Amino acid sequence: TSLQPFNTLNLAQSCSTLIRVDTYEKLKEACLSYSSKNVPFFILGGGSNIVLTEDFQGVVIRIETRGVEIRETNENYHVSVEAGENWHHLVSTLLDKGVPGLENLALIPGVAGAAPIQNIGAYGVEFDQVCEWVEYLDLQSGELVRLSNQECCFGYRDSIFKQSLRDRAVVVRIGLKLTKSWQPNIDYGPLQGLSGQQIEPKQVFQAVCDIRSNKLPDPRQLGNVGSFFKNPIVSIAEYERIKAVYPSVVAYPHGSDIKLAAGWLIDNAGLKGKRLGSVGVHQEQALVLVNYGGASGQDICQLAQLIMKQVYEFYGVKLEVEPRVLTAFGEGVLEYEG
Ligand code: EPU
Repeated sequence: TSLQPFNTLNLAQSCSTLIRVDTYEKLKEACLSYSSKNVPFFILGGGSNIVLTEDFQGVVIRIETRGVEIRETNENYHVSVEAGENWHHLVSTLLDKGVPGLENLALIPGVAGAAPIQNIGAYGVEFDQVCEWVEYLDLQSGELVRLSNQECCFGYRDSIFKQSLRDRAVVVRIGLKLTKSWQPNIDYGPLQGLSGQQIEPKQVFQAVCDIRSNKLPDPRQLGNVGSFFKNPIVSIAEYERIKAVYPSVVAYPHGSDIKLAAGWLIDNAGLKGKRLGSVGVHQEQALVLVNYGGASGQDICQLAQLIMKQVYEFYGVKLEVEPRVLTAFGEGVLEYEG
């Protein structure tokens, strides 16, 4: 079965079997039956954070469960969301219902169940700031487990689901806690223009949508998975070393370390807009790789290798790939081989 309609990079890779599940019972049955057999299997959500490097020799289970429930207390809205709900649709429906708090995370492609896995974040807000709990199906015990926010071990584009629970947990439902005393988050550069006025959540929503549509290609028009690399985190000493050579390097404090803007590193290495056959580095945002049509997973890997090599040679920094990588038999790694 072709996975092309199910991955936003629009890569023409396939899988042996595709199973689409729209209820928790079907999800549970499919996941448990295949995880106990000796067949490679992979859980797919919106396909917006996945790079298919080869044809997958196994079963892909696509999560299509739906449902949103809102409860309220005096101070908060508590929202329970099934994993297969489209994230952006959730953000805009909640706003329409008068439940703000997710507007900075507007237009992020993918499904709600994927949000905790890589702790999605944009424009000054990360998922962990709004997450109350995450429920997952444990593939070893067959049980439904609820983790508190703390127990999810959220970090920058990271969580327990990418670490100790990798290959063991299928996120089935997320719980959000959104305060009724809403305050705008407008610290991120281009959003600061909103300050000084009486701000409504919908204005932040609109501003975020505008910024994203200007810089990030719409996957329906140009295949991509958003940022292809993480912003590398380096020590202050390392940062100083780079800054001495490249005084205009863009960086932000990150705890006691420094987070470098990978987009700047790639851009400054002269790779923005670079094309390699059917794939390329996006013109407006060097952190985004795009499929101009007809690309295979190998084409993307080749371009990614070229970027990682050049960035390493320029700055001595190793870039890490941000989306997950799926090879023929399971999750793989794509890293600088130099
Ligand atoms: N920059 C350049 N050239 C470029 C791109 C960026 O010089 O081609 C410099 C600019 O100075 C810019 C800075 O890098 O001010 C940062 O760029 P931007 O604000 O676009 O954000 P980013 O660090 O590249 C991160 C997230 C995005 C998120 C934005 C906004 C990661 C890996 N990416 O990108 O998330 O939308 O911040 O908060 O952390 C994603 O994860 O898929 C994603 C799109």
